[in-house]
Amino acid sequence: MTKGFKTLDDFDLTGKRVLLRVDLNVPVNDGKVTDTTRIERIARTIREVSDKGGLPILLAHFGRPKGKVNPEMSLKVVVPALEKVMGKTVHFADTDWTDVSGAAAVIEKAEPGSVVLVENTRFHPGEEGNDPELIDRMASLGDIYVNDAFSAAHRAHASTTGIAHKLPSAAGRAMQAELDALEAGLGKPQKPVIAIVGGAKVSTKIDLLENLVEKVEALVIGGGMANTFIYALGYDVGKSLCERDLKDTALRIMDKAEESHCAIILPIDGVVGWHFEANTPSRTYGLDSIDKDGMVLDAGPQSVDKIKTAINEARTIVWNGPLGAFEIPPFDKATVEVAQYAAERTRKGQLVSIAGGGDTVAALAHAGVKEKFTYVSTAGGAFLEWMEGKPLPGVDALTT
Ligand code: 3PG
Ligand code: MG
Repeated sequence: MTKGFKTLDDFDLTGKRVLLRVDLNVPVNDGKVTDTTRIERIARTIREVSDKGGLPILLAHFGRPKGKVNPEMSLKVVVPALEKVMGKTVHFADTDWTDVSGAAAVIEKAEPGSVVLVENTRFHPGEEGNDPELIDRMASLGDIYVNDAFSAAHRAHASTTGIAHKLPSAAGRAMQAELDALEAGLGKPQKPVIAIVGGAKVSTKIDLLENLVEKVEALVIGGGMANTFIYALGYDVGKSLCERDLKDTALRIMDKAEESHCAIILPIDGVVGWHFEANTPSRTYGLDSIDKDGMVLDAGPQSVDKIKTAINEARTIVWNGPLGAFEIPPFDKATVEVAQYAAERTRKGQLVSIAGGGDTVAALAHAGVKEKFTYVSTAGGAFLEWMEGKPLPGVDALTT
């Protein structure tokens, strides 16, 4: 997959200013970064640029400041975590992106072995507008452009696409790893492929489901969105989360699956609670007897067995979205059991396992298997758009 792209191997980086687009949209609480996964993922590229004599100059967005300078969304907050993970000095280059002379001066002075982080690219409206003048100013700060931010690749912004056409450009190591993993998931996977799609709502995943049924041999639908399908099949789902207006959409997706010879696997039993809170009393019901005052909050044990049997028949699994309300035990059970089962088959070399999306990463971490899958993507929107089969502008812009 990364053929068609240049990589760090294709450039002499000695003495070069390397503009490195990274995703530093990390969770922050009380002025501290609470999860450094995204920083760890880009560390390899930063280190390699530095080791090869280049100066890594990080470009990133942070939050959604909508084209205005907003001190609350300054990337400065990320500097300590970045220094800690990298073990390197990070110089912060402040700019409002209308004038980059101050940032250029910081870059000019940065000593070999250090890293420069430039202020939030979204402080200027030209970022989201992919504005040529902003692109020129951005490009003036470097000699080479490297994109290591797969998770921002669904945005056609100045720092993700525009600049790639302006400077010699390459994919970074994290981007390469991501694209290779995705290729192994849906591009040229070992078949059969099983997909698990969970989460609350069908409405946010219609395109994704329609794309998947054409590509995979089996599709497990779980989480709140399964209720909509179960309802569409004529069952009473009580007070469960359910998008009743999407009944026809659910039926259409099931028809399309049948035409495409994709087996749809829905829960056959559900763990019902009467309050949406941790450790509330719960009981398992078959589909035809769900208590009308209760809410299905997790897939039941028979459903879990059915999913495991389906996984046994697959060589590749692609997973997005939890099977139940995994944040509130005991409704984490199905997600945890299935995740551990997939991890175990991965360990035995029987399964290639690819997962992605914010909730999914949290669920896999909760199950203790985040490091045990073949690949876990930290991308949210970009991972979904990839699962939808849509082109990603940030990836396309790197194609030589
Ligand atoms: C993310 O956090 O998913 C990426 O950084 C993209 O952020 P965005 O949805 O604000 O473009
Ligand atoms: Mg997002």
